Parts: sequence; C-alpha cells; structure tokens
Amino acid sequence: MPEKPPPSAGPSAGAEFADRIVDWFGENARDLPWRRPGFPAWGTLVSEFMLQQTPVVRVIPRLDEWLTRWPTPAALAADAPGEAVRAWQSLGYPRRALNLHACAVAITERHDGVVPNDVTALLALPGVGDYTARAVAVFAYGSRHPVVDTNIRRVIARAVDGLPDAASPNAKRDLPAMTALLPPDDTAAARFNAGMMELGALVCTARSPKCELCPLADLCAWRQSGYPDTEVSRRPTQKKYEGSDRQARGALLKVLRSTPHPVPAAVLSQALTDQARYGRALAGLLKDGLIVASEDDLFQLP
Ligand code: ADE
Repeated sequence: MPEKPPPSAGPSAGAEFADRIVDWFGENARDLPWRRPGFPAWGTLVSEFMLQQTPVVRVIPRLDEWLTRWPTPAALAADAPGEAVRAWQSLGYPRRALNLHACAVAITERHDGVVPNDVTALLALPGVGDYTARAVAVFAYGSRHPVVDTNIRRVIARAVDGLPDAASPNAKRDLPAMTALLPPDDTAAARFNAGMMELGALVCTARSPKCELCPLADLCAWRQSGYPDTEVSRRPTQKKYEGSDRQARGALLKVLRSTPHPVPAAVLSQALTDQARYGRALAGLLKDGLIVASEDDLFQLP
C-alpha cells in the first residue's frame, strides 16, 4: 500500500520544496546505470545491496559484472553461495553477498523468479530492510513510498528541522518525515526521492555543504537560523580498517577467493602474522557462514 501523507501536510510549502528538488534533479542527476531506462528490477535490488556500504564509483564495475554473469535471480540461485562471495571481491561487508544469494533463492522459490514490487514481500527477503525494500518499490517499480537513506536524513534534518545533522536512524520518525514531503503523483514522488538522495550526496554533504548550489537555500531552516552549531562532523569517525578484525577477515577471504580448492588451515593461517587475529577472523567467518570447514583443517567458500 502506498504511504499516504498525514492530513496536516499542506499543499504549499511542501509542494514548493518538492518542485525545487524534482527540477534540480532533472538538471543535475548523475548518469548512473540504475537510472537508465529499462534497467531491470533485479539490477536495482543488486545495486541497492552493493550501495548500502560502498561508494557509487566502486559499485559500478562490480554491478556490471554481476548482472552480466547473473542476469536474473534464478541464475544466481542456481550457483553456489560461495560464488556470490567470490564475485563480491573487495566491496567489503561480504555478508551482503550471502544475503543477496539467499534473496535470489527466495525470489526464485516464492515469487517465480520475479523481484516482488510490494514492500511487505520485499521486507520478507533476507537482508532487506526498510531502506532497500522501499528503494526497490520506488526506483524499480515507480510506487509512491518514502525512501530514507543517510543522505536524505541529513537533508531533512537541515532543511526542515534546522539541525546541522540527522539524529540516529529511526524508521518511526524518518519515514513519516519523508512522507510529509512527498508529492502526490507517483512519478514525481520517485523523482523527489532520488533527487533528495542526490542532493545529499552532491550538495548537502556531511562536511563542507555547497549551500551556494542548493535549490533549497532560501527555504533551508538550518541556513535561515544562521547555521547553529556548525560543528557538523561530530559523528564518530569510521573505525580504522588497517589492523582491524574486518581487515583480517578480508585477508582470509582473499585467499579462499583465489582458489577453487579447499585450503588447509596451515596455508590459510599464513595470510596473517598475528595468530590471535587469525583465530578471531576464522571463527567469525565460520559463524557467519562466509566460509565452511569441508574436512578436518580444510576451509572453502560455502
Ligand atoms: N539511486 C538510487 N539508489 C541510490 C543509492 N543508494 N545511491 C545513489 N543513487 C541512488
């Protein structure tokens, strides 16, 4: 069911806000694969998984490879999950690859191989949360729903709430806030969702926002109140990758990706000098199902 705007959302202020975003998006949208006509819903789902924690420029070449190799959910479902982990390469957070494979299996079994267009059915797929479900319903199928990612939360926090940055994600607050801004027409609502995301990515950035280029500059509550608390980047800085357990897991997966054969523990352990880190990384990967122990002391992708 499309989410309806609350009755209090009047036509004027919200309409001006939305019109500006839709017009700005028409002139400034990047040419990205998932925005091209005829891009399949399966491609939208794969791209949204990849984009969850990886920048656009790193996603584009991997997405192209994936869709060439697995043009449909059924094609991916027919391969082993380890092939998805292998093809994920260095996109990071490889549990996404396993979830995407599990999604392909579920879509093949439950939906005749067709990516569902309904938010409830999408939410029931492995690894699909509020953001991804609505992103697919809106960007692949043109339905009217609020799509809220980090960039959109920041634009709303600034332009509507007059705050320097968004609070932590909270679907109960974020989805109605975006719904209140959506234009009534399905196509315009989809363009508005994509435009808000693009504005947050290109103009209303976390650090050094380019307010002189912003179509909302004269409507922006944060700007109108003189940019209170301009110390925008108080967010916790991202944990260092070098020396982290995440890096250790990446090093072990890299060894397993490089060969179709099971690898003995004695070989795998050489990927890391610190054996305590090796033990933690191995245990974590086994627990997450990203690697399996085939026989005593032999490891491989699932
Ligand atoms: N368009 C649709 N979804 C997107 C995303 N996650 N990042 C950038 N552009 C998008």
